[in-house]
Amino acid sequence: MNDILKVGVIGCGTIANAAHIPNYKKLQEEGKCEVVYLCDIIPERAEAAVERWGVGKAIKDYHDILNDPSIDAVSICTPNKMHSIIAIDAMRAGKHVLCEKPPARVYSEALEMQKVQHETGMTLNIGVVNRFNSAVNKIHELIAAGELGELYQINVSFRAHRSIPGLGGDFTTKAVAGGGVLIDWGVHYLDIVMYCTGDPKTKTVTGEAYSKLGVDMPNYVYEGMWAEDKKDLNGTYDVDDYVTGFIRTEGPSITFNGAWAQNIGKGEYTYIEFLGTKAGIHLKYGGDFDVYGTKDGKLYSYRPEYAHDDMFYNEISAFVDCVKTGKKLPSHIDTVIVTAKMMQGIYDSSEQHREIVFED
Ligand SMILES: NC(=O)c1ccc[n+]([C@@H]2O[C@H](COP(=O)([O-])OP(=O)(O)OC[C@H]3O[C@@H](n4cnc5c(N)ncnc54)[C@H](O)[C@@H]3O)[C@@H](O)[C@H]2O)c1
Repeated sequence: MNDILKVGVIGCGTIANAAHIPNYKKLQEEGKCEVVYLCDIIPERAEAAVERWGVGKAIKDYHDILNDPSIDAVSICTPNKMHSIIAIDAMRAGKHVLCEKPPARVYSEALEMQKVQHETGMTLNIGVVNRFNSAVNKIHELIAAGELGELYQINVSFRAHRSIPGLGGDFTTKAVAGGGVLIDWGVHYLDIVMYCTGDPKTKTVTGEAYSKLGVDMPNYVYEGMWAEDKKDLNGTYDVDDYVTGFIRTEGPSITFNGAWAQNIGKGEYTYIEFLGTKAGIHLKYGGDFDVYGTKDGKLYSYRPEYAHDDMFYNEISAFVDCVKTGKKLPSHIDTVIVTAKMMQGIYDSSEQHREIVFED
């Protein structure tokens, strides 16, 4: 292992340019790592990233990184289909891995990743970046301290008015992404819930997933689109754009509704509500949160103070650090596997129109 960690970033699209490359660059400036390779199967994307960030060498085949014995770690920022393939190849080649969320398209692939992590002992963290968000960590702390009393129900909403990403491209193709709004957005929200409540065991899940508003691609009306450059009206749309369900855990129960698009007006539909006997919390996703309760016969509410730092920097810096120290982070595959199983259960429940009971 190098003192200054040598890293490669695989996939130079949106998230690589928004989070991984700039934060590794920052850590390089802090003397903690060196960005050696930026890789994309579309060579111009890797070249553009090298040009833009002034770090690394552009390559197009990720095996070149894995075959370089001087490399310690990689970030995987490709579409979901490649997550398990590259992560497994990388761990078998002796590289530590930070893989973007979701871990994989389906639970069986995520389990295979976990198995190889156990066999090789290499680090495998998943990009559940909210575990490095200071608001989320403050909620985690308040719940652990018993501030909410008995936490009995959590209500999750990850709904947008019109926000289907890259219509017809990788995001809306089940064979590439594994699913739609649940696997793309729900993964973050369910992960926050599990983290804040101490990762309680799942008992049952029931869900229904719908593919309604994007499926008629030429007639999908929208105002803005994430990854519009990857839109392909001749492509595929076979994933969920609405999902609803109910989860029983050994702790609180969870209700959720998610929409990439819905025929309801524009509004604030991205939040998590934690309901306890002493107090409740309303978290605006990616933003602040408020605490509501009663004390001495009076109602109260307040907005806690915490540092507003960059969760992606925290995540990537913690990864670089844990590779050196061997510390197990809360984003380890052993933790994230639980939401992978939960999401699989929700999709299975929807297909079979029945509740799925988790035996173990
Ligand atoms: N943590 C977050 O909040 C967050 C946000 C956005 C995306 N993501 C995740 O990041 C991943 C990428 O999303 P994106 O929006 O950046 O997608 P993107 O399409 O913008 O970028 C993916 C890149 O990977 C490249 N690629 C595909 N196969 C490759 C291979 N075999 N070798 C090298 N490069 C390859 C593509 O050419 C493309 O440039 C997805 O899994 C997504 O779920 C996470």
